[in-house]
Amino acid sequence: KKISIIGVPMDLGQTRRGVDMGPSAIRYAGVVERLENLNYEVEDIGDIEIGRAERVPNTESNLKNLKAVAEGSEKLAAVVDKVIQNGDFPLVLGGDHSIAIGTLAGVGKHYKNLGVIWYDAHGDLNTADTSPSGNIHGMPLAASMGLGHPTLTGIAGYNPKVKAENIIIIGARSLDEGEKELIREKGIKVYSMHEIDRLGMTRVMEETIAYFKENTDGVHLSLDLDGLDPHDAPGVGTPVIGGISYRESHLAMEMLAEAEIITSAEFVEVNPILDEKNKTATVAVALMGSLLGEKLK
Ligand code: ARG
Ligand code: MN
Ligand code: MN
Ligand code: MN
Repeated sequence: KKISIIGVPMDLGQTRRGVDMGPSAIRYAGVVERLENLNYEVEDIGDIEIGRAERVPNTESNLKNLKAVAEGSEKLAAVVDKVIQNGDFPLVLGGDHSIAIGTLAGVGKHYKNLGVIWYDAHGDLNTADTSPSGNIHGMPLAASMGLGHPTLTGIAGYNPKVKAENIIIIGARSLDEGEKELIREKGIKVYSMHEIDRLGMTRVMEETIAYFKENTDGVHLSLDLDGLDPHDAPGVGTPVIGGISYRESHLAMEMLAEAEIITSAEFVEVNPILDEKNKTATVAVALMGSLLGEKLK
């Protein structure tokens, strides 16, 4: 199977500069070579064009840079859609996590019951009404469920992209009040750090894989590098201590590779300006290797 790499130099979903350089940092860390070594055909189809930040942030709607984020999402959705139509595997490189709105808009239409793994310290389940920051990177999972501003929920002209019962969040340890309420209300499955410590990553992944095998016809992995501990992935804009380790993360990726359930993936929030010698992009590439079967070769 061919892997199509799509870079999304998006930094308008939050306010720290530098995450737009994530795709370059990940390419520099050798993603193409790493995957070619696994005998995949790899095509780097380049970067999605992203517009400019609003000169005056939109404080009224509590949605910073809404227009540029939405435009970037539409473009990304169209490219991802085409990659899947061609029968290829989309591997999206961020950019901040707002890009998941576009990725999922491109992926979602191809599955009746898409599963989503949200590997993240955060839930990204805010809407403009609940967001403490107005940063759209804290909203993509809600938007993909059809909640929030119509400009975000309506990307690619349909909604929702994923149903609440097909979402599993792994690594959560920083949830806002409104997000907790939504998780309760919709019954979203969350393996927080508590469950990871208590059950171990093996059991967390066994349960996750069993659920998706039973209930979904495709699974998207949305991996925010801040899901990992900042010690292992320091180059992220919103680090939270007490995260998933490098080893646990590799184990999770290897179990997904073994289960052969992942049909698309994105790795987001790599910020080389905040990083230590490209450590976080290097970790991202190593995890991509495991996800795509390095151990099995
Ligand atoms: N919950 C916070 C917010 O809404 C932080 C979100 C962080 N999201 C991320 N993709 N890193 O602003
Ligand atoms: Mn996060
Ligand atoms: Mn996130
Ligand atoms: Mn350590």
